Amino acid sequence: MFVLSKSVMIHRCTDLAPKDVPEALDNTLQDLQIDYVDLYLIHWPARMKKGSVGFNPENLLPLDIPSTWRAMEALYDSGKARAIGVCNFSTKKLGDLLEIARVPPAVNQVECHSSWQQQKLHAFCKSKGVHLSGYSPLGSPGTRWIKSDVLRHPVLKTVAEKLGKTPAQVALRWGLQMGHSVLPKSTNEARIKENFDIFDWSIPEDLFVKFLEIEQARLIRGTAYVHDTFGSYRSVEELWDGEI
Ligand code: A2P
Repeated sequence: MFVLSKSVMIHRCTDLAPKDVPEALDNTLQDLQIDYVDLYLIHWPARMKKGSVGFNPENLLPLDIPSTWRAMEALYDSGKARAIGVCNFSTKKLGDLLEIARVPPAVNQVECHSSWQQQKLHAFCKSKGVHLSGYSPLGSPGTRWIKSDVLRHPVLKTVAEKLGKTPAQVALRWGLQMGHSVLPKSTNEARIKENFDIFDWSIPEDLFVKFLEIEQARLIRGTAYVHDTFGSYRSVEELWDGEI
């Protein structure tokens, strides 16, 4: 489904010290002149120095997820965040968080598309009542630092041709039929309309199963949060707890 929301804020990695969490939301509410957000998300399970800009490894700091989550829960209690959640959490990190959370995360927003289907994480989210929201549902074509062939995959092209749809529509419809939400981005009016035109048709079962044949690879690896000395993660494997 598409989530239409008054506002969804992503908590910046530079404001993850527990004492900085309420101030960061207050500043955002003030900037936007609103009283609350519908959903407030921790952007990454990684912390950077307050006020730092860019990805200099020396700005990476260890993140204590339970303490930060308690600060997020206080925002939920205050009513300033109607729901709270996380992004880029592996199955393990989400499981660890659920163990200690008084207010469970409503959402885990993660990379999710036909070439990175997140089946294990999605099954876990479903079993725990956490909504999985998929970013980069088109594989973020056009992003400089990502080599994305998601929309060019033969399965998408074939299904699109058979159904008289575009590969982007097929990619988004696949996400809906998988049962997660999709967050496509476009600055182009025609493509925004195209991306909304996915609700009155479906991918039939015989074509839907073809998506299981697609080779899987994470596009957004989060290497900027990995360093030998600084931050919480010494390797990409550690950041994703082996889900790469
Ligand atoms: P544009 O803004 O020119 O439409 P994602 O949502 O996976 O991160 O992908 C966003 C990228 O996909 C943007 O570069 C956007 O470019 C492009 N895009 C959005 N909708 C479509 C579409 N229907 N077909 C092809 N490219 C699209």
